[in-house]
Amino acid sequence: MTKMTKILFRAKNEEKKNKAGEENSEQSVNPNPVIALRDVWKTYRTGAVQLTALRGISVQIFRGEFTAIMGPSGSGKSTMMNILGCLDQMDSGSYFLNDTDISNLSQNQLAFIRNQEIGFVFQSFNLLTKITLQENVELPLVYAGLGRRERAKRAAEALEAVGLLSWARHRPNEVSGGQIQRAAIARAIVMRPALLMADEPTGNLDSRTSLDIMEVFSQLNKNGSTIVLITHEKDIASFANRIVRVEDGEIVFDSFGRDAPGPGKNH
Ligand SMILES: Nc1ncnc2c1ncn2[C@@H]1O[C@H](COP(=O)(O)OP(=O)(O)OP(=O)(O)O)[C@@H](O)[C@H]1O
Ligand SMILES: [Mg+2]
Repeated sequence: MTKMTKILFRAKNEEKKNKAGEENSEQSVNPNPVIALRDVWKTYRTGAVQLTALRGISVQIFRGEFTAIMGPSGSGKSTMMNILGCLDQMDSGSYFLNDTDISNLSQNQLAFIRNQEIGFVFQSFNLLTKITLQENVELPLVYAGLGRRERAKRAAEALEAVGLLSWARHRPNEVSGGQIQRAAIARAIVMRPALLMADEPTGNLDSRTSLDIMEVFSQLNKNGSTIVLITHEKDIASFANRIVRVEDGEIVFDSFGRDAPGPGKNH
């Protein structure tokens, strides 16, 4: 646990330094990247079959960016996201998250980082159906060991941020698909993660509801969250301020620098 505390301490310190840097500067100066992937390779082996899903992916993502990852089905987007989210390991390459080298961490340390640093919204990640939206949103706080009162307070804040406070006591089967997805976002942000990741968060939803969901992501981004979101849809990607396109396991386009993003830009 001591090593973990050190890792987090470093990450938090970095965050403070970055914040201080921004306050001292009109423009958002380039702090160290939140995400730094370098030459990442990943091959899946199923029996005799080998499939190389990532072929030397390198990308840096900075604090306050809202990045959309696009690309055809099977191009490696979810594989890349699973590595970014510390859910899967790469074969070679390096990954620094908030200046912490992720490649040498144990499963326990990775689980800790996931809980503390990253919020996920997955299309297939359903809420638990037997408990209320609020209880679903509180789950990461339970894992983090927070007390009941603090959990209720933070869950209420997160539900309010996605416009669901009045639905807190309903169960998932009593609300719409869009509301479930918003609750999944609330659960992802309840730990106030530095980084929010979403894999096709609007994939199942009609276009009106998708736009509502994207408004929620936009607002979170305006409030300082760094967001990485996978989508097939141009309309959805247009909410982002950076587009990264993946094809056959490689980044073939990156709009970085064309429309310099940064927190505070839209305020
Ligand atoms: N667990 C796995 N075992 C074996 N092969 C896999 C596994 N996961 C993904 N693949 C393969 O790796 C490649 C990239 O898959 P990935 O899920 O990253 O694509 P994607 O870009 O997210 O596609 P989609 O848009 O359809 O979600 C695909 O060819 C896929 O079949
Ligand atoms: Mg995918």
